[in-house]
Amino acid sequence: MTDKTHSPAPGAVAAADRVLIFDTTLRDGEQSPGATMTHAEKLEIAALLDEMGVDIIEAGFPIASEGDFAAVSAIAKAAKNAVICGLARANDKDIDRCWEAIRHARQPRIHTFIGTSPSHREITKLNQDDMVTRIHDTVTRARNLCDNVQWSPMDATRTEHDYLCRVVETAIKAGASTINIPDTVGYTAPRESAALIRMLLERVPGADNVIFATHCHNDLGMATANSLAAVEAGARQIECTINGLGERAGNTALEEVVMALKVRHDIMPYRTGIDTTKIMNLSRRVSQVSGFAVQFNKAVVGKNAFLHESGIHQDGVLKNVETFEIMRPADIGITETNIAMGKHSGRAALRSKLADLGHELADNQLNDVFVRFKALADRKKEIYDEDLIALMADSAANT
Ligand code: KIV
Ligand code: ZN
Repeated sequence: MTDKTHSPAPGAVAAADRVLIFDTTLRDGEQSPGATMTHAEKLEIAALLDEMGVDIIEAGFPIASEGDFAAVSAIAKAAKNAVICGLARANDKDIDRCWEAIRHARQPRIHTFIGTSPSHREITKLNQDDMVTRIHDTVTRARNLCDNVQWSPMDATRTEHDYLCRVVETAIKAGASTINIPDTVGYTAPRESAALIRMLLERVPGADNVIFATHCHNDLGMATANSLAAVEAGARQIECTINGLGERAGNTALEEVVMALKVRHDIMPYRTGIDTTKIMNLSRRVSQVSGFAVQFNKAVVGKNAFLHESGIHQDGVLKNVETFEIMRPADIGITETNIAMGKHSGRAALRSKLADLGHELADNQLNDVFVRFKALADRKKEIYDEDLIALMADSAANT
């Protein structure tokens, strides 16, 4: 172990209300079984993320394969604005390979990690002191290569607090400017997630000079809530993926945390740099290239997230869209209609839909089409514009 103590990288401390968005779709997301993407697809997704305003793109795990190395290198060379980050375990070979892959980026970052909880220490056969030495040495090595180093104690939420403080302090002293606190197995809950960040900020010397990040998995469906709770406690970087893609139940969904911060700015006064109008396009592209369909009722980007079928809801949104919508579809880049015609739809929605299709109906004609529409909707799950045009023709021929 050397005695060298690094000062934090320049620019480590962000504005108090600015939350950095760290996207790991191409690393943690791609670790979903079956989500492998091609080189060209990774480059395309990275370019879209960069354009959308993601602050840091975790482009891959360079030591994992030749393909990963090539993809991370190509993304590093192509990125225009985002910091490009590669992942490395806590050993010299991983760190050197990671640096090789990202070194041509305008803003490179090495992200190195080690499991610190009791079960991880058992697997790595390192006692507490030996692990501290390893952390010091590997973070120092990374920092000697790159000004921007992120360090993660994997399984932080199941690591003893005293030990967690000790390892975090070690990483900061060795030169890490971002400390990521992963909830690797999606075990924590919002109050605990906040308390953990608060505890680290209070107890660890030097904590004020680094950015704390939150990295949540969704095993209990709490990743978004846990990430936001961590931000309220002082974390200023959220690690997330498009559509919540990721191992097992996935990671925090980028679209959820970004839109939650936008829509509820009144109670969570933090900013991101994301152009939210690009969210839907990215969601669709990631779904296509990963082969992972987005569930219909997925928050923000699900097919049904902005669709209204019941008569009461349709009538409400036709009169005042805020009755049943807390965000505008256009805010995430949706241009399609928000009215789904089905058996729960009412007269007002049918009249409005037919008007959109160029048919202004008198009341008696509307009554006739409405009866035909209800009969069809009882038999058919989704009613398309073509169905309505056919109904209009039937009505005209038979009345
Ligand atoms: O979930 C996790 O702990 C990780 C680390 C590599 C940061 O993905
Ligand atoms: Zn993870």
